[in-house]
Amino acid sequence: MASFLHQPVLLAEVIAALRPRTNGRYADGTLGGGGHAAAILKASSPNGWLFGCDRDGVALEAARERLAEFTGRFELRRGNFAELAGWVPVGSCDGVVLDLGVSSPQLDTPERGFSHQHDGPLDMRMDERQGLTAAELVNQASAEELARLFAELGGERQARRFARAIVRERPLSTTRQLAGLIERLVPRAGRRTHPATKVFQALRLAVNDELGSLKRGLAAGWSLLKPGGRLAVITFHSLEDRIVKQFGRDLAREYTFPGPVDVPELRQPRPPEARWWQRKAVVPGAAELAANPRSRSAQLRVLEKI
Ligand SMILES: C[S@@+](CC[C@H](N)C(=O)[O-])C[C@H]1O[C@@H](n2cnc3c(N)ncnc32)[C@H](O)[C@@H]1O
Repeated sequence: MASFLHQPVLLAEVIAALRPRTNGRYADGTLGGGGHAAAILKASSPNGWLFGCDRDGVALEAARERLAEFTGRFELRRGNFAELAGWVPVGSCDGVVLDLGVSSPQLDTPERGFSHQHDGPLDMRMDERQGLTAAELVNQASAEELARLFAELGGERQARRFARAIVRERPLSTTRQLAGLIERLVPRAGRRTHPATKVFQALRLAVNDELGSLKRGLAAGWSLLKPGGRLAVITFHSLEDRIVKQFGRDLAREYTFPGPVDVPELRQPRPPEARWWQRKAVVPGAAELAANPRSRSAQLRVLEKI
């Protein structure tokens, strides 16, 4: 699996945040090629232990190979990090990492259908055992559903126009057909990003229920931590980052409120359960941006359990 090339993002910062130590216990919910996991195991030598999971079977095998030198100190499993609390004892971990989104090999393998830059089937499933593919969504959802999805998950301003054109032209079965259709509606001249970028992002988020998994994964990852343990999350767009910020804000505040709305008179005093490691999100420095342009939208937030 030497061809699984993924450059771990914000690696030094994640290690500085988690401060791995021997006898420490860690969980990585997004193994990918195992870059962060290997660094955690190395830094927690000789006895640190790590549980790792990924929804993607190819990634899992690549990580297993990458981590071979640490055999006996880790356990790996294929699955969604939303299920972490069923696999690792609650309250047992010193650190948990979630490095969201897709890996470079997922993007760069045309058959996975994640990228408008390659021609492949409209697939986009991180876990290929799951049913729903991007082709099914594109060919079966109504124009209204597609428009809502492109607007809400892609922030696409021309969501309704694109959705109507898709419904007119379908069935569509390849990434090239979908990207080409949008290119014909919006000439590319002068644009820095491809006009189908937001549509592809929205479809990927929907196919994999990425935001739903993130909400459940944050709660699961948090429950694994001991007091003093840290949860490190790397996000790649504002929808993800907003969810992480809100999750942390609720735990770090000194009061809670009954009911769905925050009515100041009804607030109940309660000690905060978390503190932020850094007040602001940590972003890649100039050297990392130059070496790995795919890191450009990464933001790291770290919460410590009190
Ligand atoms: C950015 S890559 C992680 C790279 C990894 N940290 C490394 O150093 O190589 C994201 C990985 O997370 C996986 N992933 C995304 N969402 C997931 C979820 N809800 N549950 C499990 N794995 C997920 C993807 O399949 C992908 O392999």
